[in-house]
Amino acid sequence: MSEELLRVDGIDAAYGQSKILQDVSLSIDRGEVVSLVGRNGAGKTTTLRSIVGILTPSAGTITFEGEDITALSDYETVARGIQYVPEDRQVFPDLTVDENLRMGELKSGGAGALSMSEVFDRFPRLRERRSNSGAQLSGGEQQMLVIARALLGQTDLLLLDEPTEGLAPQIVEDVIEIIETISDEGVTILLVEQNVQAAMSVADRHYVINKGQNVYEGTTEELRNADEILEQHLGVGGEMDLSI
Ligand SMILES: Nc1ncnc2c1ncn2[C@@H]1O[C@H](COP(=O)(O)OP(=O)(O)OP(=O)(O)O)[C@@H](O)[C@H]1O
Ligand SMILES: [Mg+2]
Repeated sequence: MSEELLRVDGIDAAYGQSKILQDVSLSIDRGEVVSLVGRNGAGKTTTLRSIVGILTPSAGTITFEGEDITALSDYETVARGIQYVPEDRQVFPDLTVDENLRMGELKSGGAGALSMSEVFDRFPRLRERRSNSGAQLSGGEQQMLVIARALLGQTDLLLLDEPTEGLAPQIVEDVIEIIETISDEGVTILLVEQNVQAAMSVADRHYVINKGQNVYEGTTEELRNADEILEQHLGVGGEMDLSI
């Protein structure tokens, strides 16, 4: 039996007078990897910020583990096991990898949280580079670092905002592999991507949004064949390379 972990039900969200999301809905079962894809400015980050509680929706509800979390702050959602990795990779450039991870220990602990040594076991590359400064890491290593830092807190739901952005194809594959491993360990994942190939290579189901509204929902197989959606809302045509 599948168990619903997160339900976003008809939310509206705005920045001041600018209405951004209109009636956005999605749901994720425990253990799933679900993607939220769409073009620049579609409202992907705003949806994640609403789930986390950085932004409070003006309408609709968000339910997590059966409880209404619509009005909770980010502190409160983190304490419930929702970890958010923002798109701008907030690595502290002057701190070492070790120190960057220790910043994550502020929210550490809780059921299923990884310890520092477990984090290094999962990410051997970070152990090798633990004394290097954040500024000395490659883009892929920085992405590993921010994902690792999130996992120091109790993680029932991991929200990843464009983890593959700006990375070379080989490194995109590494990040996808990390996401697969985390998923295999039982973490439910909502993956925001503009890279639809990457999203299709790792997620089970997909939501497409455009101009702050849901426009499509389907499995990987369905999306792969939804030519119009791919062209209109995701900017990918028939020549798409789905080999990753
Ligand atoms: N702090 C803000 N104040 C006002 N408008 C904002 C703010 N942040 C985002 N917006 C606007 O909200 C809309 C949705 O932005 P959002 O960041 O959610 O898009 P996105 O799908 O994540 O795009 P991208 O792929 O470029 O990250 C855009 O039109 C953007 O200009
Ligand atoms: Mg964004």
